[in-house]
Amino acid sequence: MPADQRDVSEAYSPPELLPDPLPADPFPIVRAWFDEAHDRRVQPNPNAMTVASVDGDGNPSARVVLCKKLDEGSGHVVFYTNYESRKGRALLDTAKAAAVFHWDALDRQVRIEGPVVQSPAAESDAYFASRPLESRIGAWASDQSRPVGSRQELLDRVSEAMARFKVRVEDIRSNTDVFVPRPAHWGGFRLWAARVELWVGGPGRVHDRACWTRELLPDGGQGSTRGGAWEATRLQP
Ligand SMILES: Cc1cc2nc3c(=O)[nH]c(=O)nc-3n(C[C@H](O)[C@H](O)[C@H](O)COP(=O)(O)O)c2cc1C
Repeated sequence: MPADQRDVSEAYSPPELLPDPLPADPFPIVRAWFDEAHDRRVQPNPNAMTVASVDGDGNPSARVVLCKKLDEGSGHVVFYTNYESRKGRALLDTAKAAAVFHWDALDRQVRIEGPVVQSPAAESDAYFASRPLESRIGAWASDQSRPVGSRQELLDRVSEAMARFKVRVEDIRSNTDVFVPRPAHWGGFRLWAARVELWVGGPGRVHDRACWTRELLPDGGQGSTRGGAWEATRLQP
């Protein structure tokens, strides 16, 4: 029987609802779900998350990025992008974001909301250096979100960046490493969780939902924040 036609009473026997009572900290569950999505290869990019931002005029926009770090100890996620892109400018302007992971095959959703700060430069440097040569060149070639006259113009920009850093097509093909520095306009953002919501699909659409909120205080360090205790609340679906 299709899930949406099952009797609501079946909702009392599904295997994987949220714990009751709720745990004090949601991040061990976020970590377990993230790892399970990865290990079970539920989708080609299990670390894909939709990040919503709002610009200085209050205009919202959203797009998919890849979560490159989930720090469950302190409660933040990291993604990398162009600081001068549409999202980059909005995030630098208003310093707030919301992110959503959706693992359809697992019937799970994670929502994270809170302040955004640029990652420390050393962390962005290290991650940039780990990227394939082609991607490092791409970061120099693309003024992300800005117009370009044609596809050829974009390819010409890639060629110019390759010439600038003395990268040959053979280097890319053979994965030969050539030093390409991180552009100052490219790096990480840390999204600190002030609110986390977990959602598990339930039969008859009696889903299981809970949110955790906490206060966040900047602790003065580069890109770092100090979190207060979490408060957990079960929500109606
Ligand atoms: C699966 C997937 C992963 C993506 N990962 C990233 C990413 O990690 N960083 C990024 O800047 N853009 C990524 N993109 C592209 C963004 O969705 C978006 O097109 C781009 O960042 C420009 O967005 P903006 O104009 O709102 O700044 C990804 C797109 C998809 C579909």
